[in-house]
Amino acid sequence: MPYRPGRHFLQVPGPTNIPERVLRAMSRPTYDHRSAEFMGFAAGLSSDLKKIFRSSGPVYVYSGSGTGAWEAALSNTLSPGDGVLMAETGHFATLWSQMATRLGLVVDFIPGDWRRGADPAQIEDRLRADKAHKIKAVCIVHNETSTGAVTPIKAVRKAIDAANHLALFFVDSISSLGSMEYRHDDWGVDVTIGCSQKGLMVPPGLGLNAVGVKALAASKTAKLPRYFWDWGLMTPSTEGNYPQTPSINLLFGLRAAVDMLLEEGLDNTIARHARLAEATRAAVQAWGLDIQCAVPEHRSNSVTAVVVPQGIDADALRKIALEQFDMALGTGLGKVKGRLFRIAHMGDTNDLTQAGALCGVEMTLPLAGIKPKASGVAAALKVLASKAQPGAQQAAAE
Ligand SMILES: Cc1ncc(COP(=O)(O)O)c(C=O)c1O
Repeated sequence: MPYRPGRHFLQVPGPTNIPERVLRAMSRPTYDHRSAEFMGFAAGLSSDLKKIFRSSGPVYVYSGSGTGAWEAALSNTLSPGDGVLMAETGHFATLWSQMATRLGLVVDFIPGDWRRGADPAQIEDRLRADKAHKIKAVCIVHNETSTGAVTPIKAVRKAIDAANHLALFFVDSISSLGSMEYRHDDWGVDVTIGCSQKGLMVPPGLGLNAVGVKALAASKTAKLPRYFWDWGLMTPSTEGNYPQTPSINLLFGLRAAVDMLLEEGLDNTIARHARLAEATRAAVQAWGLDIQCAVPEHRSNSVTAVVVPQGIDADALRKIALEQFDMALGTGLGKVKGRLFRIAHMGDTNDLTQAGALCGVEMTLPLAGIKPKASGVAAALKVLASKAQPGAQQAAAE
């Protein structure tokens, strides 16, 4: 890739920008993973990761991506022929359902229009109808990165309980963890799936499972074949003793990122994302463009998917943004390819970087054949100016 002066604007919803501190933490000689020092380091990291998931159970960290962490959740807990209930919120929910089918599970995929989160009432109805309890797990994508739509996880838990159903509850928190409110324990989730390259601000290469007691118990009798993903093999990793060679330098990066999130304070991180998301949505609305997620209360605080007018190719627009302004916007995935582009507001970003990204979009729109109704940047700045930046008062006092 040729040198281009200034900062590349990486505005895709993962991989996200890697902070200098994380880059520097990784940029050191690697270390013997069987040494007492490394094992102490890895055990401490494993324990602090629980704070990010807000979970009390073990967090397993795999060398792999989010897809691998999906497979770990399914293969450790389920047996061939088990039913799983999933909801078609978008591209990632669709891929996860395809994985489940390939693994030999029987998927009931509640159809969706890719414009909203999953509906807890529909989940409750499906579970009530499952008198024989063939459904062994409900699998939901919390923040559907392809559409920018959020499913209310607490409400899904309530729906499972209201149906008096014993199914396990798995949540993909890949693009919400470290960006949006997420509570593994309080929301009664059995396995939460995460990965490194989104709100955790680390390069791709780590897949995470936060595991609860009920899921651990299920793993003792589950019959799907597994080896690499086996929680049994991974168990010593929470004490720092990995069964294989871990991604040592990525773990150094993850340590720095977890420290940064805890220093900012997770609640401040979440408030920062909410604010930047609101500013981004204000920009899109001022431009006169449609937000893919049609339900305002389901709109994501880590990514906004913007629908382009008929006759415009969203990927051509993205190409202009990249060539003219050195800014990468997220592409439309699956059946929305060409119909939308995605602006991330996830991870290591603040008022000025987000405003810069919105300037880039505003300059791109006319070049792509879209006449904005009004300045989205002005609308976004108004939102930012009207709301205190989380942590700013604290910083000013120090
Ligand atoms: C919500 C969601 N789930 C799963 C995945 C797949 O993760 P990976 O590409 O790391 O395998 C992604 C990737 O963007 C995602 O956004």
